[in-house]
Amino acid sequence: MKCVKCRQPAVVEVRRHNAGFCREHFVEHVLRQVERTIDELHMLRRDDRILVAVSGGKDSLALWDILHRLGYRADGLHIHLGIGEYSSESTVKTRAFAESRGLTLHEVSVAEELGFGIEELSRRTRRIPCSACGTTKRHIFNRFAREHGYTVVATGHNLDDEAATLLGNILHWQTEYLGRQSAVMEATESGLVRKVKPLVRLAEREVAAYAVLQGIDYQVDECPMAVGATSHLYKEVLNRLEEVAPGTKHQFLWGFYERGRRHFPHESRTLNACKVCGEPTTGEICAYCRLAERARAAAAGTR
Ligand code: AMP
Ligand code: FES
Ligand code: ZN
Ligand code: ZN
Repeated sequence: MKCVKCRQPAVVEVRRHNAGFCREHFVEHVLRQVERTIDELHMLRRDDRILVAVSGGKDSLALWDILHRLGYRADGLHIHLGIGEYSSESTVKTRAFAESRGLTLHEVSVAEELGFGIEELSRRTRRIPCSACGTTKRHIFNRFAREHGYTVVATGHNLDDEAATLLGNILHWQTEYLGRQSAVMEATESGLVRKVKPLVRLAEREVAAYAVLQGIDYQVDECPMAVGATSHLYKEVLNRLEEVAPGTKHQFLWGFYERGRRHFPHESRTLNACKVCGEPTTGEICAYCRLAERARAAAAGTR
């Protein structure tokens, strides 16, 4: 197969575009796809102060690299989750990347905040690890951005991640989530910082190819706590469909953004300041503070 741009041998094939690319033109293709997503969905302004949530995996490191190349001002925020070697290795990769590009990296440790990491948090509260982890990460992203004057938080969710989430939401008819599932979450007066997912036009394997071709050394291992998660099964199913009919994932997700989502309820919820931490919440005490309280109570043997 030859590169569609220059007829040199292709190193990456993108079947849904029915195209092959050489290294140089694949990198250009990825940058163009992300730029197009940012522009079409009005994700970022040139004067935004962007905080990229970086896990050390391929998606978030590639995102940071891409935003930097596109000329955006973007600092990183890495959260130490406290999931054994997986977490410590992720931190090493994140730091090395930031250093190699001279980028500013902030770090927050869950263990320093709570007294223990995600593994113990989930054990003590008997919550599924990914769910306790998600609540914790969302809380830290928003609070850190707000406290440090960042105007937008960018995460590395890609096409496969978002299509799998969409499939899960549909299978369970989570109409409220469907009304909210978006690549852009606007800021609210109550203090939610705007959130964007600039990689939603790129499949996981395209992001991986980009990271490898750019020489990004990323955490290859999956989180050990997420083994057996249903999201993996949804990704497998979608990949199977994609094999038979290239473009299925893209049509599924982008068709939803363009034509599906508006049919689901989208009420703007009134948010209050959490009585404990001040972060926006629909109730009196936010999900994170309730989780932390349950974990502390369990430790004290009161439950
Ligand atoms: P996940 O929920 O693990 O699929 O991650 C989705 C996105 O959340 C990643 O692409 C990152 O942008 C962000 N993220 C996940 N884990 C971390 C972490 N430990 N620190 C900072 N950001 C993270
Ligand atoms: Fe959060 Fe694995 S990264 S549970
Ligand atoms: Zn080429
Ligand atoms: Zn709170």
